Amino acid sequence: MLPAQHYHQPPAGAVLAALHEISARYGYLPQDELRQTALSLGVPLSQMVSAASFYAAFSFRPCGRHKLQVCEGTACYVKGAAALMQHLSAALGIAPEQSTQDLLFMLKRVRCVGSCGLAPVVRLGDETFGRVTTADLDALLARYRE
Ligand code: FES
Repeated sequence: MLPAQHYHQPPAGAVLAALHEISARYGYLPQDELRQTALSLGVPLSQMVSAASFYAAFSFRPCGRHKLQVCEGTACYVKGAAALMQHLSAALGIAPEQSTQDLLFMLKRVRCVGSCGLAPVVRLGDETFGRVTTADLDALLARYRE
């Protein structure tokens, strides 16, 4: 830790840009990387942690490689999103916002991904799937486990 007089205000956005860079490199924010980056930017570690804590996009723990996002917006909820989430949770053995032990999948809740007409909607990586059934989910998991 540096004495307070050694800290300075980095250029606007530098902390956020650094957080994105670390997250892209590791898939999460390892503590040692945060500490090193805070030193090189000349900001307190607490500033890095505080900024990272504010945004849901950052994680302090390793995350599953494939993010499974179940939309729980109103249209999807009415069309059975809760059952899909329960099914995935049981199939993967994890709760929402957790990753599988092999770090293959991470299960996430999201609110309206803008495809309400296709409800219920699940996203896996960059792909969006509509009118999803539990059988579809089993097929998806099998495809990504191969
Ligand atoms: S509520 Fe699910 S896509 Fe809009």
